[in-house]
Amino acid sequence: MATMQADLPTDFPCLRTHSGADGVTSRLERMAPADLSAGEVLIRNRFAGVNYKDCLSILGRARIIESYPRIAGIEAVGEVVHSSDARFAPGQPVIVHGFRTGIAFDGGFAQYLRAPAAHVMPLPAGLDAWQAAVIGVPGFTAGMALDRFMQAGLTAASGAVAVSGASGAVGMLATAILSRAGWQVCALTRKPEQADALRALGASEILDAAVVNAPPRALEKARFAAAIDNVGGATLAWLLRSTQEGGCVASVGNAAGNSFDGSVLPFIMRGIQHFGVVANAPWPVRERVWGHLGTDWRPSFEALGPHVRQIALDALPAHASAQLDGMTAGRTLVAF
Ligand SMILES: NC(=O)c1ccc[n+]([C@@H]2O[C@H](COP(=O)([O-])OP(=O)(O)OC[C@H]3O[C@@H](n4cnc5c(N)ncnc54)[C@H](OP(=O)(O)O)[C@@H]3O)[C@@H](O)[C@H]2O)c1
Repeated sequence: MATMQADLPTDFPCLRTHSGADGVTSRLERMAPADLSAGEVLIRNRFAGVNYKDCLSILGRARIIESYPRIAGIEAVGEVVHSSDARFAPGQPVIVHGFRTGIAFDGGFAQYLRAPAAHVMPLPAGLDAWQAAVIGVPGFTAGMALDRFMQAGLTAASGAVAVSGASGAVGMLATAILSRAGWQVCALTRKPEQADALRALGASEILDAAVVNAPPRALEKARFAAAIDNVGGATLAWLLRSTQEGGCVASVGNAAGNSFDGSVLPFIMRGIQHFGVVANAPWPVRERVWGHLGTDWRPSFEALGPHVRQIALDALPAHASAQLDGMTAGRTLVAF
């Protein structure tokens, strides 16, 4: 059983989410490692990415956490301080995401995280801790969509990829990753002030997201070979109507809502495919997609850097509220 004794804390800061008579509340607390949910690997967190879903969890705006109290945070990057599983050694940099981390297991919003060894991945080659944290769940999700497009036979030569909600974390990561992989990216955003940033990340075209609200036609001009939709609602319906023959639309998010009005015409006239992407992927997909993200899909961290905001744990609740109100842009990491 390997342990870096000097690094074992007696207690550490966390943001813990409770459910009680006054509803769901999250508060800063100190916890001992023994109080964390079970697992073979104790990790000293360095960064925890803040996802839309995490914001819903800690503010109690959706029932995501399965049992309370719970430390939310669906992803974290840090180094092993103790492992009773021989696959991991003290000092080893690792990433944990998905597998119900922050939902059924304590998650990233704490200085320490304990995880089952089956949930822990060594840091992918080609990425340091900060870079892996910047990519995190949003970049991995964009990578999964790209992986699915390629499995469907699309290539960068097939045409442009639309990315909706482009100024958000998935949107910016998708723009940077797809452009690095050689694809032309058309970024849809409600925020014209983010146009230059999106161009710097590799978008070749910026579209005002209001385009989706024009009176709908049965089929729009076939503009895109593929689309990554973070928004849902009218945006998803418009993307389906605007995808060219044989193209693909990946549903990733629902920032504007869960339902959409659609017709079968894009499917039966253009043979398009619509599928969902769930970041909680099985290991072969994780290994393949992270392998690309550290090499041929590795985004420009120089371009991403200005859009990565690092906050302290105590700033997280206010940040979460602003993010759900659509007041933030880019990627946010809690730094420990
Ligand atoms: N399937 C998965 O496994 C998976 C993984 C990660 C994330 N997601 C989901 O993907 C979505 C995006 O995640 P994120 O981390 O990028 O969130 P985010 O950083 O909060 O960005 C969401 C973006 O969506 C747009 N948006 C927000 N509210 C909107 C509204 N009411 N109408 C139209 N557009 C709106 C905004 O972009 P503009 O202002 O630029 O238009 C915003 O920046 C979320 O729904 C999240 O839950 C799913």
